[in-house]
Amino acid sequence: MNILHISDMHFGPRHWLGKNKVLLDKLNSYATDIVINTGDNTTDALENEFRAAGDFLKSIDCQHIVSIPGNHDKRNMQSADYFRQYIDDTEVIRPLIRENCRKKNIFLDEHTNGIKEHLTDINFLKNITINDESILVVCLDSNSLYEDNGFVDKEMLRTLSLAISKESYDKIILLNHHSILDTDSDPLFNSQKVVEFVRENNIEHVFCGHTHHLSIMRSTDLYHKHSFTQYKNGSLSSCNTPNDTNMFLYYKNFGTELMEIHVIRAIVENESISFEEEIITCY
Ligand SMILES: [Fe+2]
Repeated sequence: MNILHISDMHFGPRHWLGKNKVLLDKLNSYATDIVINTGDNTTDALENEFRAAGDFLKSIDCQHIVSIPGNHDKRNMQSADYFRQYIDDTEVIRPLIRENCRKKNIFLDEHTNGIKEHLTDINFLKNITINDESILVVCLDSNSLYEDNGFVDKEMLRTLSLAISKESYDKIILLNHHSILDTDSDPLFNSQKVVEFVRENNIEHVFCGHTHHLSIMRSTDLYHKHSFTQYKNGSLSSCNTPNDTNMFLYYKNFGTELMEIHVIRAIVENESISFEEEIITCY
């Protein structure tokens, strides 16, 4: 199973000046079973930005594309509607007990007109089978409406754990926009709750973005005897890249002893893009 990981495309004012067609040709040159996209599809969550991001994703040559929102995608009361209209019309998981939710603006006021979806959190599961092997992709919304910092609702984690327990799968991975292992100026405040969720659901692979900085880290809980790896991708196509270059990641033979992580960096100079590729072995 081969996975292509992209993040932080930032359509809108923070989008790069590189040619997207050249980038698409490069992305499509990899034999990919699943594409994962860890958020910040847009800059300001505007409809035209969501539409452009959706058009780009539709041009990637892969049957299974799993996208989540980032903090930039939640700067709009219509964010949940636009995400479903342009990115993925997925069935979101609703909290078991709404009254237990503590996340700010997780529900819009019931009198808010002109929107279809009043639940602003976009949490869902996708169970994808590749060559007789099933992979459960857990998509956790770590973003809050109008905020750059992350926050995860405990009731949503409880709801997701119950939904996971009803699934059967060979591998399980988690996608969330903010890092749960390191921090930055707009961190996920209660990342410890997600680390517990990862351990309780025996998740060994976590994918994120947000900081525009490559980081691949493994964490081991010696007391509970559980390890997981967090793959934090840089930005695919942002013009705001003070932390790192533009890049994407390709995981060949994902989750096996033969796994290779390919770091593909895109260098934009004047009108042209060149790519540099580095291969990391993990085991
Ligand atoms: Fe972000």
